[in-house]
Amino acid sequence: MDSGTDLATPTSPALILAIESSCDETSASICADGRILSNIIANQAVHEKYGGVVPELASRAHLQNIVPVIDAAIKKAGENSPRPISLESIDAIAFTQAPGLIGSLLVGAQFAKSLALALDKPLIAVHHMQAHVLANLIPDDRPAFPFLCLTVSGGHTQIVLCESPAKMKVIGETIDDAAGEAFDKSAKLLGLPYPGGPLIDKYAANGNAKRFQFPEPQIPGLNFSFSGLKTSILYFLKNAGSSNVFKESFTATPGEQAQFISENLADICASIQARIISILINKLRKAAKETGIKDVCIAGGVSANSGLRKALRETGEQLGWRTFIPAFEYCTDNAAMIAITAYYKFLEKDFVSLNVSPTARAEW
Ligand code: KG4
Ligand code: ZN
Repeated sequence: MDSGTDLATPTSPALILAIESSCDETSASICADGRILSNIIANQAVHEKYGGVVPELASRAHLQNIVPVIDAAIKKAGENSPRPISLESIDAIAFTQAPGLIGSLLVGAQFAKSLALALDKPLIAVHHMQAHVLANLIPDDRPAFPFLCLTVSGGHTQIVLCESPAKMKVIGETIDDAAGEAFDKSAKLLGLPYPGGPLIDKYAANGNAKRFQFPEPQIPGLNFSFSGLKTSILYFLKNAGSSNVFKESFTATPGEQAQFISENLADICASIQARIISILINKLRKAAKETGIKDVCIAGGVSANSGLRKALRETGEQLGWRTFIPAFEYCTDNAAMIAITAYYKFLEKDFVSLNVSPTARAEW
């Protein structure tokens, strides 16, 4: 497809249909001049019993969900708009190009390309992690450029310096597990179902975070590491109930471990959560100090964590930052963040041809 001016001339306001299918959520959103009119998300419960996302099942579920999700997004947008909204009134089609599970990405990409071809509309390719950052531009109360964003999801943990919607740089990232993985793997060790992050959050609310002290890794610069935490939790549980719970002696039987967990679940969850949060916030403080930037955001699925949201607010008050946290529905994977990112690309006429392919990994 050509990216000529005729394709970029919007009706007013410019309407963008965005599709997100990078992992296990099928989502579609419509935005009008950067204002979100709908954000429909279909979750895939099919993965729960496997303890993680099964790529093949995710692709199949996207295929089943994509048409009803887009239909619902158009219908909902019509209810929130003074003028009727149909597929024909859309000015551009956006989709998540990368990173993600390739089979999942292909479903959204192929659908978006087909729509762009059939409707003769421009196509916009969006980087999923950049979209998580720009979810902070959805509300009216938004950060000013340049701002810092701690992007924490199931696959990523990054500190991003965002100079404009098109100019972002990763200044720190995890060298092993992502923060979401740290939550989910800890939850798995506690016998909680996938994804365990929200459950740790829930149980932590009633727990004593100072009861158990997990080690904080000493990683230079702005990078993160979570694999040591996972190992320390493993030893901690294997020694459940012993006088030195961190000793590498593997004394507890599975039954003793299960009993220890059930009797102390809230305190264990609160202590694990507190350590993950302190690792994140300490690096964010360092990044803010080094860059002198005081507009600080969080993004990604783990930014739904109530402890992290509270810690960011408190740190901001203490250090004179302006802090920004997306609404819950814009934290975990959603198409509204793809739509807002696409809107800024639309303004720049940053379109892609129908030959574009999704990729599992992507540079920034
Ligand atoms: O961004 P996201 O929806 O998907 C990607 O990984 O791209 O993030 C999912 C991650 C999972 O690891 C999930 O456990 C975590 O976000 N998560 C949470 C919470 N809600 C979602 N972790 C801790 N507390 C939460 N409330
Ligand atoms: Zn994500």
